[in-house]
Amino acid sequence: MRFNDSTNAEGGLSARGADLPRTLIAPSILSADFGHLARDCQQILAAGADLLHLDVMDGHFVPNLTMGPDVCKGVRAACPGALLDVHLMVADPARFIQPFAKAGANHVTYHCEVLSPAAGAEFAKQARDLGLTVGVAINPPTKIDLLWPHLDIVDLVLVMSVNPGFSGQAFIPEVLDKCRAIKPKLNAHQHLQMDGGLNPTTAPSAREAGCNVIVAATALFGAPADQRAGIITQLRR
Ligand code: DX5
Ligand code: ZN
Repeated sequence: MRFNDSTNAEGGLSARGADLPRTLIAPSILSADFGHLARDCQQILAAGADLLHLDVMDGHFVPNLTMGPDVCKGVRAACPGALLDVHLMVADPARFIQPFAKAGANHVTYHCEVLSPAAGAEFAKQARDLGLTVGVAINPPTKIDLLWPHLDIVDLVLVMSVNPGFSGQAFIPEVLDKCRAIKPKLNAHQHLQMDGGLNPTTAPSAREAGCNVIVAATALFGAPADQRAGIITQLRR
């Protein structure tokens, strides 16, 4: 299962980029119930999610600690067919490519704040050699010029719409201009993902700005399980 596959095992949904109109919904399991993580992951996929987004934090690049490769391994065991999208909010992302690949990840995203373009290219090579697709993320305060040299390297660009570290923060609308600038520079197979503060009210602006992958933690896992399928439909619309 990869971002660039034309189908995924959860029911033949397209996971291809801007050449197809379907918006991909990526629940961030950061707001799942960690005591019942397998159940929550299986339930959100059954509710129509296209992939699972794993927020990895190291307490250095961001002021929080979350999950490592062993959690990814557990999610992979619980959800054998799911696309696992690992968002590395860590100071040294290259160190974790192999552990996450071994743990069953399909995709890894690094931040342009921590890797030079040359280091990003090396990261991408290592990840692709292990069968993973690659993304680059940019934080709200970071100037877009830092991102441009990374564009040709990656399969996905992640525009952060909160300052990373915690779920449940308010959407920062100023980042929409970044998406509008990035979108025309992407090829038809590159995805544009947004992450942070997205819910049925804020997601339309992300989609209008060109995003085709919507990450949401609180909007999905903060809602009762029986409402999540409806929220996924609203996020996609
Ligand atoms: C933020 C993480 C996000 C976060 C989103 O540091 O990268 O993926 O979990 O959470 P919500 O959707 O609650 O803003
Ligand atoms: Zn994330």
